[in-house]
Amino acid sequence: MSTDAITLLKDDHAAVNKLFTEFERSRTTRGRKQEIVEEVIRMLTVHTYLENEVMYPEVCRLVPDLDGDILESYEEHHVADVLSAELSAMDPGDDRYFPKFTVLMENVRHHVKEEEQGWFPVVRESLSRTQLREIGARMLEMRPHAPTAPATTGS
Ligand SMILES: [Fe+2]
Ligand SMILES: [Fe+2]
Repeated sequence: MSTDAITLLKDDHAAVNKLFTEFERSRTTRGRKQEIVEEVIRMLTVHTYLENEVMYPEVCRLVPDLDGDILESYEEHHVADVLSAELSAMDPGDDRYFPKFTVLMENVRHHVKEEEQGWFPVVRESLSRTQLREIGARMLEMRPHAPTAPATTGS
């Protein structure tokens, strides 16, 4: 299995996106939608942690030109964290539960687009395959230790 950092992160994006698509299908039941919300929050919490702790600092260090993009990406993670924490604390029967999740989806789709079409390609060009494999290997090592539920207070 490749440990290429960008490949690993894109695999996560694809998995989350698949759940978004299922959520939006008209035949998806309310119960299943709730399961999807919970699963997406778990996946995003792990993914965001690995990017915040490994990928983003490494990119900042190795590709300083991307500094501004990375800072914006951290802020987008922060918005997703706030929405995830609010959803986790909310009663799924609340009228605002699914609309809030829809806003989370919109934010994540925008963010993923910026990563995949904006600055990941610059990282791919700037770093060697070995560097990307090393970053990916560190993310895989940390993965089992990543939090799976959002913190109740964001930063
Ligand atoms: Fe990502
Ligand atoms: Fe991200």
